[in-house]
Amino acid sequence: MIKAKLTKVPQTMLLPLIARAEISKKKNPILMDTKAIELSDSIDYDKHNFKRNIQEIGILGLAIRAKKFDDAIRTFLESHPNGKVLSIGAGLDTTFYRVDNGKVIWFDLDLPESMELRQKLLPPPSRVTYITKSMLDYTWIADLGDISGGLFIQIAGVLPYFKEEDVKIFLVTISEKLPKAEIIFDACSPFVKIVISQRIRQSGIQNAPIQWGITDISKLEKWSKHITIVKAEPIFKGIKRRFSYKWITQILMNGGDFFKSAQVVHLKFR
Ligand SMILES: C[S@@+](CC[C@H](N)C(=O)[O-])C[C@H]1O[C@@H](n2cnc3c(N)ncnc32)[C@H](O)[C@@H]1O
Repeated sequence: MIKAKLTKVPQTMLLPLIARAEISKKKNPILMDTKAIELSDSIDYDKHNFKRNIQEIGILGLAIRAKKFDDAIRTFLESHPNGKVLSIGAGLDTTFYRVDNGKVIWFDLDLPESMELRQKLLPPPSRVTYITKSMLDYTWIADLGDISGGLFIQIAGVLPYFKEEDVKIFLVTISEKLPKAEIIFDACSPFVKIVISQRIRQSGIQNAPIQWGITDISKLEKWSKHITIVKAEPIFKGIKRRFSYKWITQILMNGGDFFKSAQVVHLKFR
């Protein structure tokens, strides 16, 4: 058992990992992530505190985010056989193990504190490179090498921790530097950012407030002529409501989608 010694936003990496593991242990899971089960079993954390505060809706949302990102990456790899994939703010992300097609060249990028734990728990297999840098240090672009075969970036559970002006500078900068690249990320509404921040705090994680909330995704195209929206949809859209879900979860899924509480956003740069 490894005790994770993390601070601020890096601590939040345990939440999506545990959610993916919990969902994978269910009957007919919407996401199967055996690597996440293996990893979460090897980390020492307060499982009961986590489940009490994140609740079924949070666990489902995190797992569905992973499923929707997987689908987008698989589609990209089908049309870009020599494409590369970069996971920014990778934490203990296990997407590579779910979508690997046997030839993809993959990069995981994160801050030193998070990468240290990732290296220890999940040393990179062949075709995977770890980049220990902040996403705001744009020298990572050179680390990707030749991206003429296409580049897909996933950034799961990261942008909401930044202020809107920083998200804007980040997206505008990479949209100019990476023409034709695609990016997928999650965003939450200004109201939901308050609720999620509270839940994160209650689950024992301090100093990691959600700072960016957005509902009208069309705003992103106004930030730069290089940004085009491929798709933006509420997180639970297209997901079957199962009888096994608690009634409150079903209400929150429907209400959340109606009010665009959390969305999956897929952009392409030009
Ligand atoms: C909620 S976790 C998400 C982990 C992973 N994407 C997943 O879904 O399992 C947020 C991650 O963002 C990373 N992060 C925060 N600030 C960052 C920065 N400036 N550059 C790169 N990563 C950052 C943290 O270290 C942490 O691993």
